[in-house]
Amino acid sequence: MSALSKTPAWLDFVQAASSSPITLDALRIVHAAELDVDLSAQRHSVALTKACAALLEQQGFETARNMLFEGGNSNWTENRPAWHTALRAKHPPASVAVAIQTEQARLAHFVEQANTQNRYRNVVHLGIGGSDWGPRLAMAALKNGGSRRTIRFASNVDAHAITTALEGLDPQDTLVVISSKSFTTIESLANAACAIDWLRAGGVAEPLERFVAVTANPRAAREFGISDDHIFQFWDWVGGRYSIWSSIGLPIALGLGQEALNEMLAGAEAMDQHFLNAPVEENAPVQMALSGVVNCSVLGYASFALCPYDARLYNLVPWLQQLEMESLGKSTQKDGETLDVPSSPAVWGMPGTDSQHTFFQWLHQDGKGAPVDFIVCAKPDHRHTRHHRLLVANCLAQRAALLKGKSYDQALAEVLKTEPDAARASTLAKHRVHPGGRPSTLIVLPQLSAKHLGSLLALYEHKVFVEGVLWGLNPFDQWGVEYGKRLAGDIERRLDALGSDPDVSPYDPSTAHWVRKLASG
Ligand code: F6P
Repeated sequence: MSALSKTPAWLDFVQAASSSPITLDALRIVHAAELDVDLSAQRHSVALTKACAALLEQQGFETARNMLFEGGNSNWTENRPAWHTALRAKHPPASVAVAIQTEQARLAHFVEQANTQNRYRNVVHLGIGGSDWGPRLAMAALKNGGSRRTIRFASNVDAHAITTALEGLDPQDTLVVISSKSFTTIESLANAACAIDWLRAGGVAEPLERFVAVTANPRAAREFGISDDHIFQFWDWVGGRYSIWSSIGLPIALGLGQEALNEMLAGAEAMDQHFLNAPVEENAPVQMALSGVVNCSVLGYASFALCPYDARLYNLVPWLQQLEMESLGKSTQKDGETLDVPSSPAVWGMPGTDSQHTFFQWLHQDGKGAPVDFIVCAKPDHRHTRHHRLLVANCLAQRAALLKGKSYDQALAEVLKTEPDAARASTLAKHRVHPGGRPSTLIVLPQLSAKHLGSLLALYEHKVFVEGVLWGLNPFDQWGVEYGKRLAGDIERRLDALGSDPDVSPYDPSTAHWVRKLASG
């Protein structure tokens, strides 16, 4: 396969994207599963639309999309499907339907029993990365409707996390959920050991009876001592960061009710139908991906900011960071060649309006800035109408200011109102210029319901998938995470060198210095 940058479709794409301005007079909204995705502040033209179609064709988009939904070898470096869509399909594909529906029924039954028997006022969820951000995000986003149980999350191996999660809870009335696809992740296992000690110290004779495991490695959970009826499975064909739709959703069902989890699945399924059936120009994930590639690979934006104008969506930023950066933070293509165009922007962000008072100065006046994804709900879940009006106003205003900018002349006219000295005014005006033309996407949800949250997450999952196809990357593996983990295991053993001087010969001088200095010997 020749280098992407040299392919005819890519050359046309770059040409069209570079010469297609963001026009201030065009409205471009794509409707997707009750969400509105406004791409008016992204580059667009007839030529670019044509070039995008050719690039999608060249990169085999349709085949890749079919393969994703049919359970083909989408995760080609691990030789397996990436079949998270099957978990939320109204009619799951025959080959996995029984397994999926059996596990969903087992999970629903467990939740129902816990409810009818009024068990487990508290749930402590142990998991990290894709086994944590999904349920943590959903609980923070949806719990204002009231949570049936106290749901606490502990992911970090820093014991401050687990001690805080356990603080003040009654061990006698607490369920511990350990979620880990591999069931080998050191953070989750170390925190589980802490929880076992805490339960035992709290008078629970059989702590492991208070454990539930959610995993794609049931054998390891069994060996850990968890009983079969407390092991909820998912499968290696579900990526960790795509696993909220599986039994990983258990804390959502325990906290918000089974119907909340079902609603999220329904919202995601609705987005799947949109992604599968909407023509390319009206396909929200495809259009968001194309704008993402234009901004990163053609315009050179090395990052983008996510600014949900909803305080309940603060976990959406880390959830998306993992989804985008673990899926696309790589540069080796299917044939082993290195991708030769800029790709996979860093994702950062914060909910609005906090973000305005934190980094919008940079977004408005930094020499380059970054594209922004704005998210807002048309209808709040509170009765403070003025607050909501202010929230929406600020979201729209920031986006308009990034797009429209402010010229030197406009700034000068402003300054001259208060600064009589023309020379000083001229200098001050330069400090107030806003370059403008800053790309952004606005996603409007009717309301932050479980269904619309499900649709929103699936929208981003498919956007990332399409970017993977356009860059020729595998968005479903994460080989890069293993090396650091292995080194950590090695260093931990040396730090634990009671009484002896640890051998630090394998390390660079700095690592060697600190292993020696910080060893518990
Ligand atoms: O280290 C990264 C990672 O493997 C993620 O891909 C995954 O979501 C997370 O760790 C947790 O892994 P597990 O669910 O196997 O505990």
